[in-house]
Amino acid sequence: MNTKYASEWIYCVSEFLPDDLALNGNRFMLGNGYMGVRGTLEEHGENELAGVMLNGGYDQVPGRWREPVNAPNGLFTVVDGAGEIVRHEQRLDLRRGRMARETEYENVTVESERFVSMANVHLMGLKYSSTRSAKTSIDSKVWNINGSHFHILETSLDEVVVKTQEQGIIIAVCSEIEPIDETSFYKYISIYTSLDCDDPVAAARENSRAAKEAGWEKVGAEHDAVWEKIWARCDVKIEGDDEAQFALRYSLYQLQLTAPRHSDRLSIPARGLSGQVYKGAVFWDTEMFMTPFFALTDPAVARNLILYRCHTLDGARRKATEYGFRGAFYAWESQETGDDFCTHFNVTDLFTDRPMRTYFRDKQIHVGADVVYAIWTYYEQTGDFSVFTDGAAEAVAECARFFHSYAYYKEDKVRYELLDVVGPDEYHERVHNNAFTNRMVKFALETAVQVLELLRERDPEFFHTLDRQFGFSEEVGSWKKMAAELYIPSPNEKGIIEQFDGYLKLEDTTPEELKTRVIKPTEYWGGGHGLATTTQVLKQADVVLMLNLFRSDYSAEVIKANWEYYEPRTEHGSSLSACAYAMVAANLGKPDWAYTYFMKTATVDLTGKSKLYLGPLYIGGTHPAANGGAWLSAVFGFAGLQINAAGITATPNLPSHWKSLKFGIEWQGKAYQIHVKPDTVRVYEA
Ligand code: BGC
Repeated sequence: MNTKYASEWIYCVSEFLPDDLALNGNRFMLGNGYMGVRGTLEEHGENELAGVMLNGGYDQVPGRWREPVNAPNGLFTVVDGAGEIVRHEQRLDLRRGRMARETEYENVTVESERFVSMANVHLMGLKYSSTRSAKTSIDSKVWNINGSHFHILETSLDEVVVKTQEQGIIIAVCSEIEPIDETSFYKYISIYTSLDCDDPVAAARENSRAAKEAGWEKVGAEHDAVWEKIWARCDVKIEGDDEAQFALRYSLYQLQLTAPRHSDRLSIPARGLSGQVYKGAVFWDTEMFMTPFFALTDPAVARNLILYRCHTLDGARRKATEYGFRGAFYAWESQETGDDFCTHFNVTDLFTDRPMRTYFRDKQIHVGADVVYAIWTYYEQTGDFSVFTDGAAEAVAECARFFHSYAYYKEDKVRYELLDVVGPDEYHERVHNNAFTNRMVKFALETAVQVLELLRERDPEFFHTLDRQFGFSEEVGSWKKMAAELYIPSPNEKGIIEQFDGYLKLEDTTPEELKTRVIKPTEYWGGGHGLATTTQVLKQADVVLMLNLFRSDYSAEVIKANWEYYEPRTEHGSSLSACAYAMVAANLGKPDWAYTYFMKTATVDLTGKSKLYLGPLYIGGTHPAANGGAWLSAVFGFAGLQINAAGITATPNLPSHWKSLKFGIEWQGKAYQIHVKPDTVRVYEA
């Protein structure tokens, strides 16, 4: 296929392949954190997986999975009798967040350019021209995975108003056309919902009217200016490797278009804003792989992501109560309320073809510790204490309370244990003492103690009010004790940290060997009859991810031994896996081992090689966690960035063909540039 990057900033496809429609919809995504618009063509609709996904607006068709709403598509424009495609070129300008296409059909040639405004999150702009006149409207027959979500209240060529089934959310899409000549026009499309304001119809009308009055150039320039600021903060320059340069920039582009800049009630779903896969839900992906990028490049976005977890704390409390625990048990799949929308049956059993019980929802308790980790690193890097009084202190303490009530104290072993959990490696469910989970929980407990102390010291009034309401201080002693006495699996005589109790006794084999045992190409490797369940094959980085986070607790020998042990046993069946292997390898001084994993994470949305199906379930879409992982690998891996109270240091581990790596970070409110060459490091205030 003829896809390539046409310049440092342009991704280009110069052939139309119907089989690539779903992938190109992801590759040519536009978005602004409020909405994500799939990169299908203007004439495309439901069958081609066109999508205008709204962040945070969910709906459920009875008996089906709850998922985000795909809004009526105001870009929809067709030319009757166009015929077959003869020539096609589609370009994505990363620098300015614009998509352009030129398509020669047998009977007409169509050109267009579009953007989803970063300056006005409710607005999209379309410039369209064709050699025969086209009909533009708003398509309300949209693609859905789990049923049709809305009733149409009003429809005309330039205005569609719909109401969602479950909660009656009103979505208004209004447009204004500005003709250029007989067959060309500008279209200003606005979307407002009743979640945004009381009268979304009036707001959408007014927004489009004002955009038309301002004109294409002005609204476009305002949009470009925001992207320019975004790139000024986050761009990374790699000298000596154009392919890596493009892939990394593209990853940052994908990540930025999902970022909620306008609201602290939204986060970033695991498949970004690319569709309804994974129910548009927010997973630990955000806290572990995305928030760290934003905390150092655009702290206001990181703060919004954290406040989303604070606003959804009650949902996490409800989940803890549901399972008979105290405190807050964050959702494995979180939507707008924080209640867990992860279903009990997520995959199909190979032999019976029946839905198979999975325990992601019930047992993946590390998610709460991941939230605490994101909050604490955000605080350390920004110095923003106010996040604690805005809800984060309460969230952290409620997580500690949950972990304490989940744990078992083993009198005979004189230690706390965390039994019956699922670690990051989802192929092994209901295991005991997963090293990653235990270490993260220890961190969460210590953090909770520290946060409450900090609060008492810096804002005693707030501390006492909080404490009167929730009584945390009575429990701090028990959290301290548990943190000190929680079992953390240590390296064995060969330096290997066992992923969970009994892991090393399982059949020792590799993913390659398991592939030869597969009966159905799409069969699930975990759970009841899963091929990996009885073996040491793991789905994704687990111990290695833990070692990456708690590097200073272990010697380089131990870290190396574990990388070498787990690497051949890891399937990388999740896009979250590669970056952990990249970072750890780079820090071991093995950048060329790291490079393959770096490229794997950085190209995930370009190559389209990641899984599209899990059994019969479509799981395609973009991978913002892997995008974040690409940045983490470059910055914490190859540049060897370390930030602590003493300041910023970098220990370069550049791949042998890289001449230099240059990037900016914001730390404690100040902007720095870091320029790393194989043997030199320059850190300076920007
Ligand atoms: C991974 C999880 C991840 C989820 C969403 C799963 O395949 O195993 O760790 O959170 O995908 O990206």
